[in-house]
Amino acid sequence: MNEYRKELKGLFTQYWDYLAVYTACKQNIFDLIKGNHLSIQSLADLGKFDFEVLKQLISVLEKQGLVRLDNDKIWLIPKGEILTENHPHSLKYACLNWGAEHLTAWQNLDYTLKSGKQAFDHIYGKPFFDYISQDKEQLLNYHRAMYEYARDDYENIYEIHDFSTHHSIMDVGGGMGALISTIKHHNPKVKCYLFEKPEVIDLYLGDIETVEGDFFKPIPQIAESIIMSRVLHDWSDEKSRLILKNVYDSLPHNGVLYIIENLTDKIDDGAAILSLNMHAMTGGFERSFSEYKKLLVSSDFNYKEVKKVNDLQYLIIAKK
Ligand SMILES: C[S@@+](CC[C@H](N)C(=O)[O-])C[C@H]1O[C@@H](n2cnc3c(N)ncnc32)[C@H](O)[C@@H]1O
Repeated sequence: MNEYRKELKGLFTQYWDYLAVYTACKQNIFDLIKGNHLSIQSLADLGKFDFEVLKQLISVLEKQGLVRLDNDKIWLIPKGEILTENHPHSLKYACLNWGAEHLTAWQNLDYTLKSGKQAFDHIYGKPFFDYISQDKEQLLNYHRAMYEYARDDYENIYEIHDFSTHHSIMDVGGGMGALISTIKHHNPKVKCYLFEKPEVIDLYLGDIETVEGDFFKPIPQIAESIIMSRVLHDWSDEKSRLILKNVYDSLPHNGVLYIIENLTDKIDDGAAILSLNMHAMTGGFERSFSEYKKLLVSSDFNYKEVKKVNDLQYLIIAKK
């Protein structure tokens, strides 16, 4: 019984740890420390932080294995380096992603529980993707976060499936192009396109050919195959079918559709918490393999096969 109480008390304040790291990221503390071996006092002066509060924060970061205090100097250690801006595998924006509006939406999960509708829209007055589009920096930071996840999640996609059989492929809702760039890198002969909302294309600095659009409207018929990762889980069945109809119409006869999503029946645990996040934020939810199959069949696609991408995600292949 004591163990249970201890576990519960630990759970109640788990968010303190994340918010300490979030604050350090937001205040660029890991970047300020990097290579500088600052004392707490010089970091306080540099960042205009309260010395006493900073001392406690550094102590928490030390406990989390992100920094080390030695001879009164703060040293960044490898785990902490991942939270710096220019680290090749940086997770700085992934860290920042969950702290602001996401957190507020989660604090209003009871609204979603009672209404079945998005807490996000209730608080911020508009759907998530419309809201982030209002502010260029916020939009960029969201896409940097998605890029950091996609960069890690899809790094081995070329080993999982051979895309070289295609003449062309379009990544619909492809964000900052992490997935399509990996496909292009390993299949240089395949013509690749990145399809995104115009305001996202405006932020894109890569070299994949871009196509501006809205997947709730007709999608240009330019690619022989389409890939969509982490798109359908943002939307209800009704909206997903609308996206799938536009994808279907965009593909030629025998065109191939690739979907990458978390499959609830294949994830050992944690699927429900991912779904709660989607319900609160965008009104979507995570689906099982058979739910995706049903969505595809009701959108006139022929299901072909499914392949494991990583611990959470699967590649579902269908044909027009
Ligand atoms: C969860 S993100 C996934 C991004 C990327 N595919 C990945 O796997 O990381 C969903 C993407 O859908 C895009 N999106 C949302 N609404 C859209 C619309 N109406 N038309 C086109 N893209 C849209 C967003 O800009 C965002 O990049």
